[in-house]
Amino acid sequence: MDGQDDATGLEGLRAQWFARIAEAADESALEQVRVGALGKKGEVSLKMRELGKMTPEQRQTAGPALNALKDELNSALLARRASLADAALAERLRAEWLDVTLSARPQRRGTIHPVSQVTEEVAAIFADMGFGVAEGPQVETAWYNFDALNIPGHHPARAEMDTFYMARADGDDRDPHVLRTHTSPVQIRTMQAEGPPLRIIAPGRVYRSDYDQTHTPMFHQVEGLAIDRDISMANLKWVLEEFFAAFFEVDGVETRFRASHFPFTEPSAEVDIRCSWVDGQLKVGEGDGWLEVLGSGMVHPKVLEYGGIDPSQWQGFAFGMGIDRIAMLKYGIPDLRAFFDSDLRWLRHYGFAALDVPTMRGGLSA
Ligand code: DAH
Repeated sequence: MDGQDDATGLEGLRAQWFARIAEAADESALEQVRVGALGKKGEVSLKMRELGKMTPEQRQTAGPALNALKDELNSALLARRASLADAALAERLRAEWLDVTLSARPQRRGTIHPVSQVTEEVAAIFADMGFGVAEGPQVETAWYNFDALNIPGHHPARAEMDTFYMARADGDDRDPHVLRTHTSPVQIRTMQAEGPPLRIIAPGRVYRSDYDQTHTPMFHQVEGLAIDRDISMANLKWVLEEFFAAFFEVDGVETRFRASHFPFTEPSAEVDIRCSWVDGQLKVGEGDGWLEVLGSGMVHPKVLEYGGIDPSQWQGFAFGMGIDRIAMLKYGIPDLRAFFDSDLRWLRHYGFAALDVPTMRGGLSA
């Protein structure tokens, strides 16, 4: 048999093609090997054709030997194809691996400023009570900032507000614009633009020439305004108590109204919330202390008139509150000036994750 095999060269052929099958690195290389051996002009196929030229005795041994080789090669090709396919799949699984449990933001690069966070929190709480958000310009006319709020030219409140006046060109003797000293002018603009009934808050930047641990020349206020036919101080008290409980994330907050004076409200009240200080930590809603948090009152009839609303038909409450101040209280931030220093270490420490949008359902600061 050995002599016969050598005569037809089958043993060498077998070894050579088995080696090539084993070496084929991928499915297309393997296909080339298959064509080279068993294709129409493949080496083994050509050998099969030579059978015709052989003597019957030669053919008797060479025929079955060649057929056996062909079968062997076919099964070897099949086995190799299967293992290459397995390897290709394993490689794809390895290369195309994706951990879908990984956070979309693996690194926290930026943070939401406490002022933005608290503004969102305030808006979410008031939205829940049916208040929309209104806006007005930061460069305001003296009329909207003062006169329409019942603060005439001689009124001491104008001087007290440390107003920034915008320069006029030489010879221009019109009333100068001011950087708004409070968000109250948005009351007038909203009354004019929308008419009654109204329920809005107006958060935004305000400006006064002042600078110390609790004052910066730019700071933030939020104005509240509700106008309807029968709005009273009782509604104001309920709304504020709802707000403070939600904002400080406690069950309830008692308020104390102290008689006060603002030109744009009558009567006027300054509002305190019940609190205590434990080891330098503020606790809102319990204790023997009181903390002043805002000014408020019933909108003055003259202010309604300036806003184009008939005070014999409509009435309402208004309030104004410092956003930075309630942010400092809620999040234990000691110095207002640091809010506006853009110090990255401060921002990382006091900032909020970008995707934690405050909502009443999802939680405010959780
Ligand atoms: N505008 C006042 C201020 O900046 C705050 C304020 C007090 C607003 C009473 C009001 C209000 O709407 O009714 O000091």
